[in-house]
Amino acid sequence: MCGIVGYVGSKNSTDVLVDGLRKLEYRGYDSAGIAVFEDGRIKIEKSKGRLDDLENKMGLYNRPNGHCGIGHTRWATHGEPSDVNSHPHGNERISIVHNGIIENYLQIKEKLESKGYVFESETDTESIAKLLDYYYHGDPIETIRRVLGTIEGSYALGILFRDFPDRIFAVRKESPLIVGVGKDENFIASDVPAIIKYTKDYYLLEENEIALLTEQEVKILDIDGEPIQKELHTANWDIEAAEKGGYPHFMIKEIHEQPTAIKNTVSPRIQNGLPNLGLENLTDERLASFDRIHIVACGTAMHAGMVGKYVIERLARVPVEVEVASEFRYRDPILGKNDLAVIISQSGETADTLAALRLAKERGVHTLAVVNVVGSSIAREADSVCYTWAGPEIAVASTKAYSVQLSVMYLLAFQLALVRKTVEPDQIQTLCSQLLDIPAQLEKLLHEVEDECQYYASKFQNAKDLFFIGRGVDYALSLEGSLKLKEISYIHSEAYAAGELKHGTISLITDDIPVIALATQKALYEKTISNIKEVKARGAKVLLVCREDSNLAGELSEYLIKIPLIPDILMPMLSIAPLQLFAYYTSVLRGCDVDKPRNLAKSVTVE
Ligand code: M6R
Repeated sequence: MCGIVGYVGSKNSTDVLVDGLRKLEYRGYDSAGIAVFEDGRIKIEKSKGRLDDLENKMGLYNRPNGHCGIGHTRWATHGEPSDVNSHPHGNERISIVHNGIIENYLQIKEKLESKGYVFESETDTESIAKLLDYYYHGDPIETIRRVLGTIEGSYALGILFRDFPDRIFAVRKESPLIVGVGKDENFIASDVPAIIKYTKDYYLLEENEIALLTEQEVKILDIDGEPIQKELHTANWDIEAAEKGGYPHFMIKEIHEQPTAIKNTVSPRIQNGLPNLGLENLTDERLASFDRIHIVACGTAMHAGMVGKYVIERLARVPVEVEVASEFRYRDPILGKNDLAVIISQSGETADTLAALRLAKERGVHTLAVVNVVGSSIAREADSVCYTWAGPEIAVASTKAYSVQLSVMYLLAFQLALVRKTVEPDQIQTLCSQLLDIPAQLEKLLHEVEDECQYYASKFQNAKDLFFIGRGVDYALSLEGSLKLKEISYIHSEAYAAGELKHGTISLITDDIPVIALATQKALYEKTISNIKEVKARGAKVLLVCREDSNLAGELSEYLIKIPLIPDILMPMLSIAPLQLFAYYTSVLRGCDVDKPRNLAKSVTVE
């Protein structure tokens, strides 16, 4: 989604803004722009396309030269990507950048047009810029307060007033914004990577707070304009974590960071051999008492929840429903007071997931957030939080965040099984120790199968359609393998429960159609083999991912990846690796933009 950076200090602000926006490129965008105070005037430069297009457009001579400004990367929602729709919006008197969506912008536009305002763009954002201009009579705070009282929707806003040079004003609602605090320089940003090169210290701006930044000072005011004291946060990672570190893409770097991420997430939560998530507001008694669990999330996070369902139900014998947040929030779900809602999100800012969390809370359901970004909206609003410790995930395609979400699903299943007494403690202890072994096994597997995956990707790179099949947790994993492939390689791909194929989809299986079959579950092996035979009989080319001890494997498939023997229930922790590598190399071979696939955004903060 869109990115915001603001800077005030002694450095050249255009350099800092463009540099910061580059660090937010992973969020996805299709145009960029900046507004900078130059000799007391606001100079705006913006362009459709990438930051390089903006740089080229500015060239040497139009490059704003000043020490305070705001910048934006836009991911189009209202109006196509174009110069005129790009941010900043406004004029030389007041200029703004905006993330989010203004729902009542048409009413505002109509009202302002009747007052003589002329709109140039198709964006909702322009209505805020014009409204600020309309209400402004010399007092920025008062003007902002009036505007906040009028606009409806979600927003993070950076604002410049010509009458107040070298100052940035900022507000937010439902769209994240942080205020970075440096030495003789201050920042606003929609995400930490934009400013981590300059400072690790930041405030999390809350709704109904107004930030006012100068070179020397940051003031945070409440909605009545009264100054408030806030806790200063310090990012616990550094610039290297947000750099490629010698890898060609963030995605492959993040795939290889998985063993460490899993270790960081799991190790502190296994004590004396037993799971202890250490959840605030959730005692073991309360955990044991839930009647039902609802796992709600989007995309990859939802797929982690799918594995969670199989594992929790198998071990803890409590019914689990998994649902995409955009459906859950609008279907008036049946929620009992004695249910638990588990909300999974890497970013902690996904609009639908946040809305689902709020709905569950409104209905009196205890909410447990599994989140990677510390201090994000979902983390702050949930009743209990379990952080995943993947570090910053920059590639749009989620990999290490998925693995740590899976790890938490296992820990939760183990702890639920323990407190509900559905599995003997010594068995849980064994499972915990096997989970602790995963990082080393995954590290080894990643190195062993990387070349093979690259080779198989070269075999399938020209496919138009591709199918993933599996049963049980392998089906849950197929969903993720398929999403990974389609989002970064643009190959049409679908995941099916292997037994379901013959109910329709098998008609699509013809000569040379690639099928990636997952068969890591002993109990389901024979059944899956039958399904593989069915597709092979119709001419499919099969890449089989199976257990190391699988018999028949070679006869069934053209291509083979063997997964070391670990308990069936833990298999997804390893078998995801070849699927991620396969997707990555297919994308590379097809010449796609691996880390920033078309049309996608890292953090989906709009519906
Ligand atoms: O930040 P979240 O985990 O809430 O994001 C959810 C999805 O948008 C995300 O997982 C998306 O599906 C990824 N692009 C998948 O790689």
